[in-house]
This record gives sequence, C-alpha cells and structure tokens, in this order.
Amino acid sequence: MIIGDIEQALAIQSELKLQNWSYKNFLAEINATKSSLCWVAEDFFGRIIGYMIAQIQYDQVELLSIMVKPSFQRRGVAFALLKKLEKMVSLLVTHPFQGLYLEVSVLNQKALGFYKKNGFVKMGMRKNYYAQGDHALLMVKKDVL
Ligand SMILES: CC(C)(COP(=O)(O)OP(=O)(O)OC[C@H]1O[C@@H](n2cnc3c(N)ncnc32)[C@H](O)[C@@H]1OP(=O)(O)O)[C@@H](O)C(=O)NCCC(=O)NCCS
Repeated sequence: MIIGDIEQALAIQSELKLQNWSYKNFLAEINATKSSLCWVAEDFFGRIIGYMIAQIQYDQVELLSIMVKPSFQRRGVAFALLKKLEKMVSLLVTHPFQGLYLEVSVLNQKALGFYKKNGFVKMGMRKNYYAQGDHALLMVKKDVL
C-alpha cells in the first residue's frame, strides 16, 4: 500500500461500514515501515479491491484490518492477503513466534467464518470492546511458520 492508495482504501471502508480509520490512520501505518505491513489486492485494471494491515510487535503480529470490496468477496482475496502475511511473518519474525492475533466482533459472521476456516482459534473475549457495545473475540493463529 502506498499513500496514493489511501483514498481507495477509505472508499472500501465506507462501502463496508466497518472500522473508522481516518486518512491519518492509514498514513501512520504506511509510514511505520519497520513495524507495519500494509498491502492491497488489485483487480486486472489496477483498482484496489481489498487491503490488509498488520503490525509486528516483537514476537507476535496483530492483524489490524482486512477488508475486501463486497463485489469481490468470497473469491479468495482475503485468503491471498492472509497467506502473504503468513509468508512475511515466517521471514521477518526471528524471535520464538507467539502468534498472529486479532480482534473481531462476535456479530461479524463473515469474518468469524473466514478466520475459523483459516486456522484461527478463540482465546478470549473483550466485553463491550466496540463503540456500540458489541463484544470482541480475541483470536490467535500460532502455527503460521
Ligand atoms: C471477512 C472478509 C475479509 C473475507 O474476505 P473474502 O475475500 O470474501 O474471503 P475469502 O474468499 O478468502 O474466504 C472465504 C471464506 O470466508 C468465510 N466467509 C466469507 N463470507 C462469509 C459469509 N457471508 N458467511 C460465513 N462465512 C463467510 C467462509 O469461510 C468462506 O469460505 P467458503 O466460501 O468456502 O465458505 C470479507 O468478508 C470482508 O471484507 N468483510 C468485511 C470486513 C471485515 O469484517 N473484516 C474483518 C474485520 S475483523
């Protein structure tokens, strides 16, 4: 992901009505080149159809955002982004790896289905984690190496 991609990422975020990152939030992650991994998926014409943002935190990685444009969902786009992240984790994290972590709303059936299918397991719950009061599941995938 480059700075010029932010407007398209914001448009996908609005279409999905999930998360509320500002332009500055994206910019901060793109500029944090030593700790953040930010990628986009593009269609044949170079238009952004999805993106993923993760942070390396010493011996673990937190998946902050994975979003796919509705018209391109269920075609393996998020799977491709996740596989790329797992590959990079295996190359970059040199300490004993603790896992790939994320939080997801207990109400987000699509994401829960995706994470379960891809080997994430529940490790806890954060009550009233989101602004609307929804609970978050804390999930982890440890066997990515
Ligand atoms: C979750 C999300 C990233 C998945 O992206 P995707 O590109 O459609 O996922 P893939 O095609 O790689 O994987 C598809 C798998 O995800 C799960 N999935 C996708 N849509 C689903 C749905 N509506 N209900 C249940 N599971 C679903 C299934 O396991 C599916 O496999 P299947 O088609 O064999 O049943 C996408 O739905 C999305 O952008 N959702 C909104 C943003 C979001 O919730 N992000 C996560 C925040 S924590």
